[in-house]
Amino acid sequence: MKVLKIKNKEIKVPIVQGGMGIGVSLYKLASAVANEGGFGVISSAALDKILSKRYSKQFDNYSAIRKEIELAKHFSKSGSMGINIMVALQKDYESSVKAAIDEGVDAIISGGGLPLSLPSIKNPKDTALIPIVSSSRSLELICKKWEKQGYRPDACILEGPLAGGHLGFRVEDIDKEENKLENLLPKVKETAKKYGDFPVIAAGGIFDRRDIDNIMKLGADGVQMGTRFLVAEESGASMDYKQAVINVKSENIIVAYRPGSPCGFPFRIIKNSPMYISAIKKNRKPRCNMGYLLMRDNEGKLTKCSAKEENYQSFCICNGLLSSSGYNSEIEEPLYTVGVVAEKVTRIQTVQEIFKELTLN
Ligand SMILES: Cc1cc2nc3c(=O)[nH]c(=O)nc-3n(C[C@H](O)[C@H](O)[C@H](O)COP(=O)(O)O)c2cc1C
Repeated sequence: MKVLKIKNKEIKVPIVQGGMGIGVSLYKLASAVANEGGFGVISSAALDKILSKRYSKQFDNYSAIRKEIELAKHFSKSGSMGINIMVALQKDYESSVKAAIDEGVDAIISGGGLPLSLPSIKNPKDTALIPIVSSSRSLELICKKWEKQGYRPDACILEGPLAGGHLGFRVEDIDKEENKLENLLPKVKETAKKYGDFPVIAAGGIFDRRDIDNIMKLGADGVQMGTRFLVAEESGASMDYKQAVINVKSENIIVAYRPGSPCGFPFRIIKNSPMYISAIKKNRKPRCNMGYLLMRDNEGKLTKCSAKEENYQSFCICNGLLSSSGYNSEIEEPLYTVGVVAEKVTRIQTVQEIFKELTLN
C-alpha cells in the first residue's frame, strides 16, 4: 500500500482510524493504531466527563483534551495521531481546537457540520487541518472560506453514506446512486487538485483489503475506517456494545431520524439498541442533562437542545452514547451507532490482528 503524506508527515499504512465518540476512540485505541503504522484518532466528545470519571478529579474540556493527546503520544512509539472535533459540539469547539494545537497533535479532523472557520481559531503550526465532507460542493465551500483565512486543507476525508455515526446526507439522498462513495470520489479529487492537490481519504463501508484496494484504485489516497475498530479489543465500547455489533444482521442496521440526533443529521444505529427501543415510545420523558450539542436561542446564546424538551423528534444521543461506553448508565440506556459493515463483523480482534489482515499482500 502506498504511504499517505499529510503536512510533511508520512503515514506508513494509509489507514486512518475514524474518530468515534463518545468514549470509543480514546488514547488506547489511537496509540495502538499508530503503533501499527496507521493514523490513530481520538474523539474529543465528552472527554471532560470521561477523564473526570477515570481520574476521580474534575477536568474541564481544554485540560481533558490535552491530557488524552499526551497519553496517546506517550503510548505510541513514533506514530502519527489526530483528534476528531465535531463542529456540532459548538460550545466547546474553539477551546477543543486550541487544546489540540497547544498539545501539538498531528491533525485535527473536523466534521459533523462544516468547519468553515477552523483555520482562524489558532495558528495550527505543525498540526494538519482536515475537514470531513460528503460532497465536492461542501469541500469547495470550505476551500473558498479557508482561502480567505490564508489556509488550504492539508487533506480531506470524504465520508459516504454507509458510514457509522452522523451522516452528511439528507435522509432521502442516502440511497441515491450518485452518492455512493465511489461515485462521489472523482469530483472530490478534482476539487482537491484545484486547491493544492491535497490527499483525499475515503470513508464509509470499508471493511477489508479488497475494499481498500478498490477505492485506492479509484484515486483515494487513504481510507478511514470506523466500525472495524469499534470492535477492536482496545476500543472503549462496552462488551455489550461489541457483542451487539457482532450479532447484528443487516436488516437491523437503520438510519435514525425523528426520533434522531438533536443536531438534525441522520444517525446510523442498531435498531434494537436499548435506548432506541424506549426512545420511540412517545410517552418517554427526555433525559438530557448534558449540554454538548447546544444550539443558539433567540438571543444568540448557546442554551438549546431539543432532547431536553421532547423525546419524540430527538433523543439524548450524548447520554445514550456515554452509556454505550460504560458511563452514565444510571441516567440512560445504551445507544449503539455502527456503519453498514457491522453486519460483516464476526469477532473482537486486537488492533494488531486487524492490521495484519488488512496489510497482508
Ligand atoms: C461508534 C462510532 C462513533 C463515531 N463517532 C464519530 C464522531 O464522533 N465524529 C465523527 O466525525 N465521526 C464519527 N464516526 C464516523 C467514523 O469516524 C468513520 O468515519 C466512519 O465510521 C467510517 O465508516 P465505517 O464505519 O463504515 O468504517 C463514528 C462512527 C462510529 C462507528
